[in-house]
Amino acid sequence: MMGQWGEEDDEKVVIRCYDDRRDRIELECVEKSCEIGHNDQTLIFTDTLGDPICRIRNTPLFTMMVAEVGNKLVGSIKGSVKPVEFHDKLVKVGYVLGLRVVPWYRRRGIGSTLVRKLEEWFVSHNVDYAYMATQKDNDASLGLFVGTLGYVVFKNPSILVNPVNPSGGLKLPSDIGIRKLKVKEAASWYRRYVAPKTEFFPDDIDRILRNKLSIGTWVAYYKNSDNIRSWAMLSVWNTSKVFKLQIGKSPLSYLLLTKVCNFLGRFLQFLRLSSLPDLFTPFGFYFLYGVHAEGPLSGKLVRALYEHAHNMAASDDGGACKLVVVEVDGEGGEDDESLLKCIPHWKMFSCDDDTWCIKPLKCEDEMSCLSEFTKMSLSSKSRSLFVDPRDV
Ligand SMILES: CC(C)(COP(=O)(O)OP(=O)(O)OC[C@H]1O[C@@H](n2cnc3c(N)ncnc32)[C@H](O)[C@@H]1OP(=O)(O)O)[C@@H](O)C(=O)NCCC(=O)NCCS
Repeated sequence: MMGQWGEEDDEKVVIRCYDDRRDRIELECVEKSCEIGHNDQTLIFTDTLGDPICRIRNTPLFTMMVAEVGNKLVGSIKGSVKPVEFHDKLVKVGYVLGLRVVPWYRRRGIGSTLVRKLEEWFVSHNVDYAYMATQKDNDASLGLFVGTLGYVVFKNPSILVNPVNPSGGLKLPSDIGIRKLKVKEAASWYRRYVAPKTEFFPDDIDRILRNKLSIGTWVAYYKNSDNIRSWAMLSVWNTSKVFKLQIGKSPLSYLLLTKVCNFLGRFLQFLRLSSLPDLFTPFGFYFLYGVHAEGPLSGKLVRALYEHAHNMAASDDGGACKLVVVEVDGEGGEDDESLLKCIPHWKMFSCDDDTWCIKPLKCEDEMSCLSEFTKMSLSSKSRSLFVDPRDV
């Protein structure tokens, strides 16, 4: 696979498959040179625990490609494929992630060549749609995908992040019961209640629920039988076994809070106030997925499930998990608005500018392309998004 931007031979760019033995060390340098900040103040480093493919390994089919100039690695991209329900049809979608080009080789077409090669690989595996997620303020990424490659924005979910209180558990309301579902039971609940209301529902949900990173699925209900119509469910995914995060530059307010809490630590404990987790050393997080609520009083149930997950995170693995993260569809109607309200989160770590873009890979002519785009814009309004934990 080859592209070119200059006259000289050594300026040729070669796109090839990632070779773990040959590329691992150089790839780390590429990643380091491209570290992405969430906003002006927060810079998050990802430690893949020695496995650059860890973020895609759990999907049924995946690949990683690198861009090489001379003998130097100058860029990389990952892709994964899975079956989902999209607009009442079973389709194959290809997720584009981890696109990186080292700063001194940018604006020479390498990023777009990498994406095009990945799209070709998707097409060769019968993929119907390619999609990717970025942040609203990532001009380079949006310029490339939307401006140059014809992707359209179809969802703007919010990522809600809350620190785990390392000093103790949250007390759950006594009128609420919580029960763990067996994998088979959870899969059938998801198919029955969640699949008809969401877009991108994974057809291999059983496989996700059986994955060793999926700790379980819980349902919350009112013990009083008058409120039997209200219930909520969610599943928990433990990312800390796959990769760790570390905050490089933190918001000033968090730095100040940490300092004050360290200073007052003993008194805070005495007053039974929460202490703050140390986010400056590598940490993992719990990702809550498949959050679903039904009935008029379900907000309190979602909160109880969140608290249950938080307490598990606080006691898990010697405190390795320091955040609880949920991604909710900010535009998906009342249900999701209430999710936004009832899931506790810290604004300084959360982000409401996640942007999902999609592109049909199989339209034969202009008319079929137009109808695909109409479908995608309809789906963005009518249904909320099922965020697959394997995409995190
Ligand atoms: C995004 C990134 C991969 C782009 O790589 P690249 O090799 O510079 O991209 P290309 O040269 O193929 O750019 C193609 C087009 O994308 C758009 N584009 C690229 N960088 C841009 C920028 N900084 N601002 C606005 N548009 C930009 C332009 O339309 C460009 O065409 P042009 O150069 O003819 O104007 C690179 O900037 C990068 O690694 N950024 C950090 C990591 C990142 O944000 N990854 C994306 C995560 S989804």
